[in-house]
Amino acid sequence: MTLRPLREDDIEAIYLACQDPTISAFTRVPYPYDREMAEEFVRGCDLSYRNHQGIVFAMEVKDSQSGQAIFAGTIGLHGISLSDHCAEVGYWVEKSHRGSGLCTAATKTLLDFSLNIMGFRRIEGMADYNNLASQRVMERAGMTRDALLRNRVTKPNGDQIDMVLFSITK
Ligand SMILES: CC(C)(COP(=O)(O)OP(=O)(O)OC[C@H]1O[C@@H](n2cnc3c(N)ncnc32)[C@H](O)[C@@H]1OP(=O)(O)O)[C@@H](O)C(=O)NCCC(=O)NCCS
Repeated sequence: MTLRPLREDDIEAIYLACQDPTISAFTRVPYPYDREMAEEFVRGCDLSYRNHQGIVFAMEVKDSQSGQAIFAGTIGLHGISLSDHCAEVGYWVEKSHRGSGLCTAATKTLLDFSLNIMGFRRIEGMADYNNLASQRVMERAGMTRDALLRNRVTKPNGDQIDMVLFSITK
């Protein structure tokens, strides 16, 4: 697994991956998701990085047969507060790459980079109360369950849902 900056040639893969409604169900990714949204996302990442608001990486894996690098998802930090040295981690993995430990490995790598290289002192992550896979990822990546945040998020359909807050500190 490799983390690298997003590129223009990821746009098609992001567009295709985000046709999966599970991604929008558990993230802020909109649904339906069109190509222009993928373009805006990739082009916006650069600006967001330069403004110290966020940083996004592509998760890349090697195809077992061809050995070629394949885009498999995104992971990044948003809600960055440089004055507080903290940020929030967020991620999604393309459907066919789930369940093989990819997101756990990517999260461990990003947390290590954030705390030990970039100088953050707290990274937090929030998952839907029902998103057990994401909670497991954060737990396995070494984060601690801080709290249950009741009625924390309003979904596009109006549902008000509980979130579980995890964090890791240095
Ligand atoms: C959450 C998500 C990123 C996980 O990616 P992944 O690469 O499949 O994650 P991993 O394989 O590293 O780990 C998944 C863990 O969850 C567990 N898991 C998966 N589905 C589960 C379920 N329904 N109930 C309980 N545990 C579950 C797996 O067994 C694994 O735990 P283990 O390592 O102890 O076996 C992926 O499912 C996804 O993209 N979901 C949609 C978007 C999303 O939810 N993003 C996060 C928003 S907070």
